[in-house]
Amino acid sequence: MKYILGLDLGTSGTKTVLFDETGRALASASREYPLYQPQNGWAEQDPYDWRDAAYETISAVLEKSGVNPDDVVSLGMSGQMHGLVLLGEDGVPLRSSIIWADQRTQKECDEITEIIGKERIIEITANPALTGFTASKIRWVQNNQPDIWNKVRHILLPKDYLRYELTGDFATEVSDASGMQILDVPNRRWSAEMLDKLSIPEAYLGKVFESPEVTGHISAKAAKLTGLSQKTLVVGGAGDNAAAAVGTGVVEDGRAFATVGTSGVVFAHTDNISIDPKGRVHTFCCAVPGAWHVMGVIQAAGLSLRWLRDEVCTEEAAEAKRTGEDAYNIMSREAAESPIGANRLIFTPYLMGERTPHLDADCRGGFVGLSAMHKRADLVRSVMEGVTYAMNDSVEILKGMGVSLSEVLAVGGGAKSAFWRQMMADVFGCEITTLEGGEGAALGAAILAGVGAGLFPSVQSACEKMINKAGATLPDAERHEEYAKVYGVYRRVYPALKDVYKELKAIK
Ligand code: XUL
Repeated sequence: MKYILGLDLGTSGTKTVLFDETGRALASASREYPLYQPQNGWAEQDPYDWRDAAYETISAVLEKSGVNPDDVVSLGMSGQMHGLVLLGEDGVPLRSSIIWADQRTQKECDEITEIIGKERIIEITANPALTGFTASKIRWVQNNQPDIWNKVRHILLPKDYLRYELTGDFATEVSDASGMQILDVPNRRWSAEMLDKLSIPEAYLGKVFESPEVTGHISAKAAKLTGLSQKTLVVGGAGDNAAAAVGTGVVEDGRAFATVGTSGVVFAHTDNISIDPKGRVHTFCCAVPGAWHVMGVIQAAGLSLRWLRDEVCTEEAAEAKRTGEDAYNIMSREAAESPIGANRLIFTPYLMGERTPHLDADCRGGFVGLSAMHKRADLVRSVMEGVTYAMNDSVEILKGMGVSLSEVLAVGGGAKSAFWRQMMADVFGCEITTLEGGEGAALGAAILAGVGAGLFPSVQSACEKMINKAGATLPDAERHEEYAKVYGVYRRVYPALKDVYKELKAIK
């Protein structure tokens, strides 16, 4: 039997899973790390935390499973997208990574739009200049930390930094590189025009591969640190959403999935490139060679619930610690005690600004309609509903673009809650399915690794062998109507407060 490794470098932590050729997970290990927010709207992480989590989780799964490292044929990585890792000549990170959730770069986005042209940037990169994307983060360093910029010799995405630590290679692949805003997305190669106009030398960037292609193998140093064999191949891998698509079998037209991770994503595969002229949803190359995907992203899905857990539901967190039960289970049960609409309480999940559909780095979250009668159960329910309504905005846009969404696969931490899955089915008005194991991105990365190592002839055929569907949750027409009324009011909150957010930001 041959084995493949999938590693998912997420925002709250890294998870590594060892699979056999049938998709059975033999061992899994996770490790959390901190998110630093030195200022309102900033978000940074330490690349060494990612590296150490990768080394530790890989060693742990090898040890737990007891497999012979020579039988681990390949490793695929999935990573949080857009994060900026800058290395100097010696391959050492020059500063902490400014990650996807960071919103400090509106000025840089305006500059990029001015330099390239509003329409041209969408023609080349398939997306408008966005604060979440890497190009504006590079420009921020150029503008604000010239001493660091002068020392930069390599620009990498989070999982591509791990590739460097594991193999010594500087490489990337099309799906993650699409989120840098310097890739020519229709043609799947670096854009000379973007690089030239933004003064980014191409030599600083890794070679671009397709996701299942082999980019190298484990180095002697990494083999020593992880217990892997130097023979283990490393494939391109994918950005977390593109990897989750593979891990859920969303690899053909008409298929879609929704993730409630730190961010929230509604993702649909498309064989032909399709771009929202308003730029509200992203178009990226997907992990299936030659295809693309369209996705809506909300900045704070699980992040909103994590914030509630840490800052408000401290009793639930303490109970979880005492009993060993997951705090989110306790919160989910509590939410079920509150009715649809959370007793007329609406939460807007804009804790880190918002992408889809508002493209506004300055908006912030809030509870609207808070009353002295509200209990914590109402707060929890309204946060879950607010996140679901925000994701429904993406569902509505994709439907408007003609993308069919008859069935949506739910993945990520939020998909573990049956209560939340039912809420998604009722709000979106479509069937929500889940997968056995529910590994999502890690499984997707492993599937790409399997294809690269020649275990399967194509991504699609690997998905057929390695993915097993679990149950389906059906929508209820009556509840759909009830949610639709609250959603209608939810949609009016952002336009009503748009200017208030700007005024708030101006207060020093
Ligand atoms: C996608 C995005 C997030 C991150 C974090 O554009 O920013 O989904 O990949 O998971």
